[in-house]
Amino acid sequence: MPKNNTIALITGANKGLGLETARQLGLKGIKILLGSRSKKRGIQALELLKHDGIDAEIIILDVNKQNTINAAVSKVKHKFKKLDILINNAGISIQREIPSKTRMSELRKTMDTNFFGVFAVTNAFLPLLRKSKAGRIVNVSSGLGSLFKLSDPNWVGAKSRSTAYSISKVALNALTVLFAKELKDTQIKINSINPGSTATSLNQFRGIKKPVESVKIIVYYATLPKDGPTGGFFSELGKEPW
Ligand SMILES: NC(=O)c1ccc[n+]([C@@H]2O[C@H](COP(=O)([O-])OP(=O)(O)OC[C@H]3O[C@@H](n4cnc5c(N)ncnc54)[C@H](OP(=O)(O)O)[C@@H]3O)[C@@H](O)[C@H]2O)c1
Repeated sequence: MPKNNTIALITGANKGLGLETARQLGLKGIKILLGSRSKKRGIQALELLKHDGIDAEIIILDVNKQNTINAAVSKVKHKFKKLDILINNAGISIQREIPSKTRMSELRKTMDTNFFGVFAVTNAFLPLLRKSKAGRIVNVSSGLGSLFKLSDPNWVGAKSRSTAYSISKVALNALTVLFAKELKDTQIKINSINPGSTATSLNQFRGIKKPVESVKIIVYYATLPKDGPTGGFFSELGKEPW
C-alpha cells in the first residue's frame, strides 16, 4: 500500500463508523491514530486494521476526560509534530423520548460526549492541525441534527424520539459553522457530515446502510482538495439543510 505523510486521528474508532473510516483512510496510505477510550477494545480493532496492512496505532482517548485528550495531544505532538485529519466521530445515543419525558441527566450525558467532547478535542488538537499543510476536520453529525428536517412533519425521521441526540447534533453543527468562520483564512477546512442511517451498535444494528457505504462521504470530506468547501453540512446526496 502506498504510504504518504498524512496523519489522521479518528475518535471512537474501535467499532462502527469510526473503525470503517479508519480502514478506508488507512487503505489510502494515511497513518491512522485509532482513538479508543478502552485499551482492550482498541487493540482488538487495531488487529483488524493490521490484517488489512494498514499503518495504525492506538491513542487512548475518552472525549469526556480532558487528561486523556491532553495525553493524546502530547503523544501526537512528540511523535508527528502535526495532525492532518481529525474525525470527530465518537458519539452516543442513550435515550428515545419526547422532550417533556427527557431527563436532564440524559441530556447532559449526551451533550458531554456529542458536543462538549468535540469542542474539547477540536480545541486541543487545533495547534497541531494548524501545523498541517491541509488540515481537515470532519464532525460526524446526523440528519437528526438538521433543524429543517426536525421541523418537517413529513420528513422520514419525523417520528424520532431521540431528543437529546438531536439537540447534541444541532449544537455540533453550530460548532462546525463557528469554527469554519474562525479558521477561514487558514489551511483548515471543517465540515459536518450526515453519514445516513447505518447498522451499528448505536441503533442496535437497526440502521439501513452498512458502514462500508456510509463512511465514503466521511472519507471524501476528510481528504478534500484545496478548493473544497468549509463550514458546510453534507451527506452522500449533497448539501444537507441546517
Ligand atoms: N449509525 C448511524 O445510523 C449514524 C447515523 C448518523 C450519525 N451517526 C454518528 O456516527 C458516529 C459513530 O457512531 P456509530 O454509529 O459508529 O456508533 P457505535 O458503533 O456505537 O460507535 C460509537 C463509538 O464512539 C465511542 N465512544 C462513545 N463514547 C465515547 C467517549 N466518551 N470517548 C471516546 N469514544 C467514545 C464508542 O466507544 P466504546 O466502544 O468504548 O463505547 C464507539 O467506538 C456518532 O457520532 C453517531 O452519532 C451514526
